[in-house]
Amino acid sequence: MWLRCTSRRLLTSLRAPRQTRVNHASSWSSSVAAAVPEAAGFAGVTDRATLQDFSLAHGDRFWDAMARNRLTWTSAYSAVQDCDLRRGKVKWFVGGKLNVSVNCLDRHVLTCPDKVALIWERDEPGSQVKVTYRELLEMTCRLGNLLRRRGVKKGDCVTIYMPPCPLAVASMLACARIGAAHNVVFAGFSSDALAERIRDADSSTVITVNQGVRGGKTTDLKKTVDAAVDTCPNVRQVFVAMRTETPVAMSNRDVAMEEEMMQEDVVCEPAVMDSEDVLFMLYTSGSTGKPKGLVHTQAGYLLYASLTHKYVFDYHDGDVFGCVADIGWITGHSYCVYGPLANGGTTVVFESTPIYPNPGRYWEMVERLQINQFYGAPTAIRLLLKYGDQWVHKYDRSSLKTLGSVGEPINTEAWEWYHRVVGDGRCPIVDTWWQTETGGICIAPRPSDPDAEIVPGMAMRPFFGIKPVLLDNEGKELTSKSASGALCLARPWPGMARSIHNDHQRFIETYCQPFPGYFFTGDGANRTEEGHYQITGRLDDVINVSGHRIGTAEIEDVVNHCSAVAESAVIGYTHDIKGEGVYAFVVLKKDADITVAELRQQLKDRVSKSIAKYACPDVIQVAQRLPKTRSGKIMRRVLRKVVEKDLNSLGDLSTLDDPGAVQEIIQGHQALCNKPPVS
Ligand code: WT7
Repeated sequence: MWLRCTSRRLLTSLRAPRQTRVNHASSWSSSVAAAVPEAAGFAGVTDRATLQDFSLAHGDRFWDAMARNRLTWTSAYSAVQDCDLRRGKVKWFVGGKLNVSVNCLDRHVLTCPDKVALIWERDEPGSQVKVTYRELLEMTCRLGNLLRRRGVKKGDCVTIYMPPCPLAVASMLACARIGAAHNVVFAGFSSDALAERIRDADSSTVITVNQGVRGGKTTDLKKTVDAAVDTCPNVRQVFVAMRTETPVAMSNRDVAMEEEMMQEDVVCEPAVMDSEDVLFMLYTSGSTGKPKGLVHTQAGYLLYASLTHKYVFDYHDGDVFGCVADIGWITGHSYCVYGPLANGGTTVVFESTPIYPNPGRYWEMVERLQINQFYGAPTAIRLLLKYGDQWVHKYDRSSLKTLGSVGEPINTEAWEWYHRVVGDGRCPIVDTWWQTETGGICIAPRPSDPDAEIVPGMAMRPFFGIKPVLLDNEGKELTSKSASGALCLARPWPGMARSIHNDHQRFIETYCQPFPGYFFTGDGANRTEEGHYQITGRLDDVINVSGHRIGTAEIEDVVNHCSAVAESAVIGYTHDIKGEGVYAFVVLKKDADITVAELRQQLKDRVSKSIAKYACPDVIQVAQRLPKTRSGKIMRRVLRKVVEKDLNSLGDLSTLDDPGAVQEIIQGHQALCNKPPVS
């Protein structure tokens, strides 16, 4: 135990929705008062569908009732909201005061101190650690006191570079306790990527571990932090916790975290925070080379995480909630930490991989921990599907009630397998669409609806207070039921990001200006006759590799830095397991003296050093030149069509500078396809 150590962009890219419909209505209550107790007293609300209508028609009353019921306030807000999407202004529960860690911990310690708050599913199967609400509060308070004693102040930003574990959760909550913002960086990111995020966030404190353990392998995370911090003059101190027994070199700036925590008091005065103070920032990729630090604030985010956690997954008191995402992504923030803990739930924090020590890992864990809601990613489902049903059948999954999916569209085959094999055909699948920007789930089936129809592969229905709209290229709202267009959200909601750190203008330009008056998601979607939504993928140059977002421009920046490379174009292509793979077209400099194998190795080394392993190109095609418009813009659309072997719809090539370039690209691609694959 560790404290004891020392203590598609293209709207057409998806298949049409399948018409197999699954109805889960019979097993669920149809009384809305029972389903949404907070809604009692809303005139005319008789079921979940009318509640959705009510939440849009009387948004302020709806959110007011939810905020009063679900959050504990230090002092009341003076207005429910003050928002203007046209100007990028978003404020919820204006002037209200509260503390997020009090909402996630103290109030549950009062009623059920010994309830398990968190189950740490360590990499080594069978060695889980249970942490009660009282213990998690104590850990959080000790760490809050330590951060304060070491000079971290309200409004500072602390960077957390840790694998999923109780101390990582306590670190997030300790920041919330003392009013510091956290900036969790996924521990798979390289030292360069970490350094960029530390500098942009202007963190002077970093929290990490000596080593990470995943899939039976250890990684020296502290070394990565050292390399990063050496290039960040603002960093004063690095807190180091011990995940393994392996000693680690400590320098002057390093703090032995667990030892120092033991010296601290278990009581820590919570900071009184304004609803709109920053709770955290989280970096994600956009369509330029520079990642953006999306800013989330206190009350609105917490309320939205709590409400969606309860109603999308039909979470009930006593359930064990198993979200297997890493805390380095927004899914880990909202559904491993803030949503479940705000609801006084029991949350699983998963350190391992779906196939360690074998492909039965998830289901063996479900049986051992008696997990009731399982929330995972399509890429893992597709991978496990290939290993066969026997790994699932081996384990008892009768505890499961709801199965969730997130990160990318789930293809019908994976959906059916998840439903039929994993859930034995009896658990609703909730395909949840949302983004780092939205803070919580925005479109998803609602299994507790009286009308609980779910169409495989579709995110289905907007959540309470969410109004999706589809717009055409001219920015006109598509009003017919069945339509395809750019997915926007027409109303502000409490969970939405407020800004991009240090660059509010970029926030406005990216999300508010493309379609004035609407929040633009960057995704495309279809809507059916029945009004159900299906997400088709990104409309910009962002690709989705194994559910992780990466901007093609970020990869190109790195590839172009290679001395042999003149220029490059990176696109996503359909990949069986990852959803999308990374395909790099590379034009070499005339005098470059390098073999393709050397080039492949160089690019792999560079991309994993500058970004992360998951961003490394899967396929590299060396080309003489790239198809460009006369004004010099690379025609990525053409490259995508070539790679998708959709040569009949290359589209309008009239702006192409030199049509010969396309033929060369096609031939080069065919030559690559005829060669045996190289890993
Ligand atoms: C992008 C957001 C939301 C947490 C994980 C990823 C894609 C996400 C779905 C889904 C189709 C989905 C979208 C979105 N996406 N969930 N259920 N169906 N696409 O968060 O890194 O902010 O990425 O992931 O393209 O814009 P993220």
